[in-house]
Amino acid sequence: MKLNSANINVMIKACRKAAKVIIRDFGEVENLQVSLKGPGDFVTNCDKKVESILIDELQKARPDYSILSEEAGKITKDDSFQWIIDPIDGTSNFLHGIPHFAISLGLEHNKEIISGIIYDPIKDEMFAAEKGNGSFLNNHRLRVSSRSKLKDCIIFTGGPKLQAKDRDSSLKEYNNFSSKISTPIRKLGSASLDMAYVAAGRCDGFWQRNLNYWDIAAGIILVKEAGGFVTDFKGDNNFIENKTILVTNSKINEEMIEVLSN
Ligand code: IPD
Ligand code: CA
Ligand code: CA
Repeated sequence: MKLNSANINVMIKACRKAAKVIIRDFGEVENLQVSLKGPGDFVTNCDKKVESILIDELQKARPDYSILSEEAGKITKDDSFQWIIDPIDGTSNFLHGIPHFAISLGLEHNKEIISGIIYDPIKDEMFAAEKGNGSFLNNHRLRVSSRSKLKDCIIFTGGPKLQAKDRDSSLKEYNNFSSKISTPIRKLGSASLDMAYVAAGRCDGFWQRNLNYWDIAAGIILVKEAGGFVTDFKGDNNFIENKTILVTNSKINEEMIEVLSN
């Protein structure tokens, strides 16, 4: 990997340590599928263990940085730097023994994401990016795909959750896609990996409502540094506030906006 800033090294080290716990516990989850109680509590504990390893390691290395983490919430210190942590993104997959989930770790400086890693511990795929220095998967530089027609693409999405306020809008967007265009749509169950896969050119676009900042923080820099676009459904920059995210290889951006809004 051509990224070697001190912060990226801190992130990768923390992540590899936490990943050991995930890999060990994932083996156990497969056994628990057949138990009467199921793996629910076990997975909740794993999530917390992983988060606490990440927080400990990051705090040891950078005691002054603030933290926003899915389970632990906000730990405020120096607000100019902030870690954004999702200890396991793709918990439902993890719970069911499906090997598709990741640790997602972003770093903000003055409210802008400057580095991110998304690590899939089962496939040993470390996606990493740094502002101005590109996106990488293990040692390979990443570029988004070059497909320019939506009909030739594969698009990812997720949700909607049953209780979501804008569930109807989500369903409408899904119907727009599947009724107007023959593009295959996939729901793989991990928003961070969805974004990493756009950065890697494995898929061409991704859209979803109601994601949280920790689901997308690392993905934002990965996609941008690989040459992709991250916007809201109208093509504007307010995707965090509006809770609507559209990620593309840049070439299909306009066509995606058109399909989503019709
Ligand atoms: C979830 C995943 C999933 C997305 C959900 C998220 P979690 O995160 O990213 O793909 O559809 O909206 O909540 O709960 O597994 O960390
Ligand atoms: Ca998540
Ligand atoms: Ca999570």
